[in-house]
Amino acid sequence: MLNEELRRTLTAMPKAELHIHIEGSLEPELIFELAQRNGVSLPYPSVEALRQAYAFSDLQSFLDIYYAGASVLLTEQDFYDMTAAYLQRAAADNVRHAELFFDPQTHTARGIAIETVINGIWRACQDSPVSASLILCFLRHLSEEEAIATLEDAIPYRDKFIGVGLDSSEVGHPPEKFARVFERARNLGLHLVAHAGEEGPPAYIESALDVLNVERIDHGVRCLEDPALVARLVREHMALTVCPLSNIKLRVFDVMGQHNLRRLLDAGLAVTVNSDDPAYFGGYVNDNYLAAFEALPLDASHARQLARNSFNAAFLEPEQKRAWLAEVDRFFSEIQ
Ligand code: ADE
Ligand code: ZN
Repeated sequence: MLNEELRRTLTAMPKAELHIHIEGSLEPELIFELAQRNGVSLPYPSVEALRQAYAFSDLQSFLDIYYAGASVLLTEQDFYDMTAAYLQRAAADNVRHAELFFDPQTHTARGIAIETVINGIWRACQDSPVSASLILCFLRHLSEEEAIATLEDAIPYRDKFIGVGLDSSEVGHPPEKFARVFERARNLGLHLVAHAGEEGPPAYIESALDVLNVERIDHGVRCLEDPALVARLVREHMALTVCPLSNIKLRVFDVMGQHNLRRLLDAGLAVTVNSDDPAYFGGYVNDNYLAAFEALPLDASHARQLARNSFNAAFLEPEQKRAWLAEVDRFFSEIQ
């Protein structure tokens, strides 16, 4: 059982969130509000019916509903409202800094201009008290040519995002498929991340490092199947953006008591805790900390480590990083 003091610590500690798909923050209530505002019809009669459909058997069963939910986003104001709602919740969870994934192809495929997507999300970030930056993700179930076209389309807005990522259906779509688009992004000076080792094998983590040259691995929980890979990830201080509730909802682990978060930390890996798609997986970043600490043998020293890891792994200027790390240290020295 989680004691009250540890609960308060997890909730109140300053933290960064590095793995959140902004389209995955669309709550059923907002989906219905936007559907009504835009005259979009939904295949669900009510908010409750939609929420009840959130029972997933794997990543693909989630993605099918997630892409359907995003179909209500049409105008710049819609993207603004979705992002503002997430950032408000993040602020309430004491998130100081967030790096938000967005999937332009989900929207451009429906005829929405990439400008509408980026400007709406970006403007909400500018208006937020939480520091926020954007990472443009390519959908790995689509072709590399489509990813390249998306990146070229986004170049006029280059100053509004800091990096690129790779998401959607993992198995059968290895990192090698996206070697050229990541090379192009690297030449543009963008940061590079990729989902790997969520459902896919450890070999995908290795090729994300070797072929895509990523600076962080999103998920990466399957690395423990390969001790040599773990040793490498530790040696290279490679951060893993782990999402505990997501891993349970998508059946990567059966129950939270079987999640390998503690084993990842014990191996010396630079693990961070994140929400992935909070509207679909049962909670925001603090809910992820609370659920993991409730089920696993984790204490305040792990909480401090995870908070430090979150800022250390962020794409921040060294001075800003130092300032937030000092805030974490102050927070933990005051509660002792
Ligand atoms: N898109 C949104 N959430 C995702 C996840 N957990 N894995 C892959 N693609 C995603
Ligand atoms: Zn994700």
